[in-house]
Amino acid sequence: MNRTKCMTLVVSLALFFPFSASRLRAQSDPGPRAGSANAGNFYPTLNPAEQSMFTQGMQAFMEVDSVSGAMTNEGGTGLGPSFNGNSCAQCHAQPTMGGSSPGLKSPQNPLPNPQVALATLDGASNHLPPFITADGPVREARFVVTVTQQGSFPDGGVHGLFTIAGRSDATGCNLAQPDFARELGRNNVIFRIPTPIFGLGLVEATPDAALRVNLAANAARKAFLGIRGSFNTSGNDGTITRFGWKAQNKSLLVFSGEAYNVEQGVSNEVFPSERAADPGCAFNPSPEDFPHIDTGEANADVQAFANFARLSAPPTPATPTPSSTNGAGLFDKVGCSLCHSPALTTGPSRYTGMSNVTYNPYSDFALHHMGFGLADRVTQGAAGADQFRTAPLWGLGQRLFFLHDGRTADLLQAIRAHDARGSEASGVVHQFNRLSPSDIQDLLNFLRSL
Ligand code: HEC
Ligand code: HEC
Repeated sequence: MNRTKCMTLVVSLALFFPFSASRLRAQSDPGPRAGSANAGNFYPTLNPAEQSMFTQGMQAFMEVDSVSGAMTNEGGTGLGPSFNGNSCAQCHAQPTMGGSSPGLKSPQNPLPNPQVALATLDGASNHLPPFITADGPVREARFVVTVTQQGSFPDGGVHGLFTIAGRSDATGCNLAQPDFARELGRNNVIFRIPTPIFGLGLVEATPDAALRVNLAANAARKAFLGIRGSFNTSGNDGTITRFGWKAQNKSLLVFSGEAYNVEQGVSNEVFPSERAADPGCAFNPSPEDFPHIDTGEANADVQAFANFARLSAPPTPATPTPSSTNGAGLFDKVGCSLCHSPALTTGPSRYTGMSNVTYNPYSDFALHHMGFGLADRVTQGAAGADQFRTAPLWGLGQRLFFLHDGRTADLLQAIRAHDARGSEASGVVHQFNRLSPSDIQDLLNFLRSL
């Protein structure tokens, strides 16, 4: 059939079957879901005392830090000497406080990357690294190795993007930023974007045994597709660690303490030493965050942050449509659900109504080899160079950037990036690729309904 005839046939088919016309269009990510942020509240069954703990936690999460705590609208104390952000809520912002990276494409709250303005806030003299852009995601940077005159050694740690040098509340501090241009030239820099904290109390309250049973389930199907999976564990007590892109952290309190110190430079009772310790840049005694029993504020900020995450409700998905319902079935059929587990159940919990609850994280909280395309060459605990925690997909519908480094804003690209030499997900992605365009569209619509 020649081209003109073919076009005529397509057009006349489309006229006769208007629905098949839309099926001929290439499938695409519908983009972040508009409408209200279906996340950010406290867990619905909490009692009033627990609700007020959540609210206090939220206030601490919103607090903006300066070095001295005396700057207008920056009442928190302890920023720097090095930092990536000045408030938890700055990075955990989309679609609302507690979420993931903000961005210009947010239907709820379009915002340029706040790290751009932060670089020079209050007179700070930082240069913007090239990987921080107004329309890109909030990022932190890790170096794969540290190069010294003696050779190169495994690193993997976060190197703060900015320092307080030049700020009006840090007179005398001359700490230089890391040499990002040099490290980029060595192909030594990898990135992480924020993960949302909604519903994480349920994850914390899930017994190790429940996670192990879930990972062992569907063994034959997993083996057939090449899916294995293993847990990251704590070197101290051997229990499963489950927070962070590599499931590297044990608890919400530990993560909060680490984030306060690593992201904002605020030393605290969980991580009491200043990073980038430079005598000329130490303006406060350590720890900078502590319980103010004198003023009746018995919780340190770190405890408040952990409460905010722990007592938050999971995101509420959109009302199912025929397309998203079909997509949910296909998500299971092609095998996405073998890693992105649709349901887990908590054990006994201290908090009202959070015991024995079945929830829908779309993650097994296990590590999987994702192959050389996603490998970041960083080891954290048992998580090796190409291993990542199955990213929980709850709230995905309103997220702007995907994968650990935020390399794409397009769901299809995020899925295709799972397929590489050495990836446990390749078998599943090959099945996904064989779906019809309209089935692929339904699966994408399902993901954007989460
Ligand atoms: C500069 C941006 C930035 C700031 C500021 C920030 N975070 Fe994060 N947050 C991240 C990134 C990036 C990750 C993922 C880190 C990783 O896994 O390596 C993350 C992950 C988390 C997680 C783990 C969630 C999960 O899915 O397991 C928690 C909890 C968290 N942050 C809490 C906080 C708290 C509390 C604060 C304030 C003290 C804070 N963050 C400030 C960027 C930020
Ligand atoms: C072998 C386990 C495995 C399978 C199978 C799998 N995934 Fe994933 N998925 C992961 C891991 C691990 C990540 C995080 C990778 C990273 O960030 O480098 C991820 C990330 C994602 C993300 C990005 C989420 C975010 O927060 O950035 C999406 C979307 C996604 N997967 C969808 C799917 C879909 C759809 C399928 C089925 C076609 C699928 N996945 C199959 C393990 C898997």
